[in-house]
Amino acid sequence: MTQTLTLRTPDDWHLHLRDGAMLRAVAPETARHFARAIIMPNLVPPVVTGADAAAYRDRILAALPKGSGFTPLMTLYLTEDTDPADLAQAHADGLITAVKLYPAGATTNSASGVTNFDKVRPVLETMAEIGCPLCVHGEVVDSDIDIFDREAVFIERVLDPIRRATPGLRVVMEHITTMQGVEYASEGGPELGATITTHHLVINRNHILAGGIKPHYYCLPVAKREEHRLALRRAATSGDPTFFLGTDSAPHTDANKLLPCGCAGCFTATNTLSILAEVFEQDGALDRLESFTSLNGPKFYRLPPNESTITLTKGAPVTYPDHIDTGDGPVTVFDPLMPLHWRVST
Ligand code: NCD
Ligand code: ZN
Repeated sequence: MTQTLTLRTPDDWHLHLRDGAMLRAVAPETARHFARAIIMPNLVPPVVTGADAAAYRDRILAALPKGSGFTPLMTLYLTEDTDPADLAQAHADGLITAVKLYPAGATTNSASGVTNFDKVRPVLETMAEIGCPLCVHGEVVDSDIDIFDREAVFIERVLDPIRRATPGLRVVMEHITTMQGVEYASEGGPELGATITTHHLVINRNHILAGGIKPHYYCLPVAKREEHRLALRRAATSGDPTFFLGTDSAPHTDANKLLPCGCAGCFTATNTLSILAEVFEQDGALDRLESFTSLNGPKFYRLPPNESTITLTKGAPVTYPDHIDTGDGPVTVFDPLMPLHWRVST
């Protein structure tokens, strides 16, 4: 008997689509299976004003396959010069859904991010007033803090003080990778959400470092120890509305990954749903997959869940390309190191 699973169409609450030739190559990979995605603003130069967001949204729409109903949900990149009035207007116009905070230097294209958090106080207060969520890349950048501790230290030194100082600010802890992240998010009440990526449910730091270095598993925040991966698996498969899918699918060409100083990011848009179905089935939680991919995110963002559905069918191992071609060069598709049996059939 064929096993099938029908879900409301998923959304991706953390996605990098890039621009130009790369955008044109990767946008269809997400639009094939997802109805909406929160689009990260870390272009060069970054998306900092409402006008930037409108122009980028139009470029994304132009890159979609004909007839695609995919909706990009735009974000602004928070800088120390962000104008609260421009932000509020873009939010009121429905042009942006959220604002992204990168600590300066934390990750790819974060140089324009925030160093002095006091400087963005007025913006955060405006966001609390208007109900605009803040998506947070939660890692400190201090060179004396070990890279594997940067998320836990950020929660204590930066995130918790910001939330205490800004009552009403709605925050998404993006791509959490630690049990500390899981714990803090689950105790944060309805104003706090957390996204979890596909790849952090599958790999731990050994996959990057043991038996030879594997640049395609290197992303930020970097994957942690196995006990953290297991905490993420429990959170994602729990049904707890705090946790929802943000793939952080982050395409870089192989030429830029395979360097002495290679880029951070895993490209998972192509096979994410097959991987997630496999993971949830392994954990006996297929009945909670829809909460993670399609219900908890809209609930946090106060948007209706999608009315349309997709159907996954279980069968012989799924084949998918090991890379996609882009005008900039090939981009390797994330290898989950296990056979996948669930394909999206509609
Ligand atoms: C992202 C990118 O490449 O833009 N990289 C990554 O490793 N996740 C940036 C980010 O989300 O940190
Ligand atoms: Zn990201």
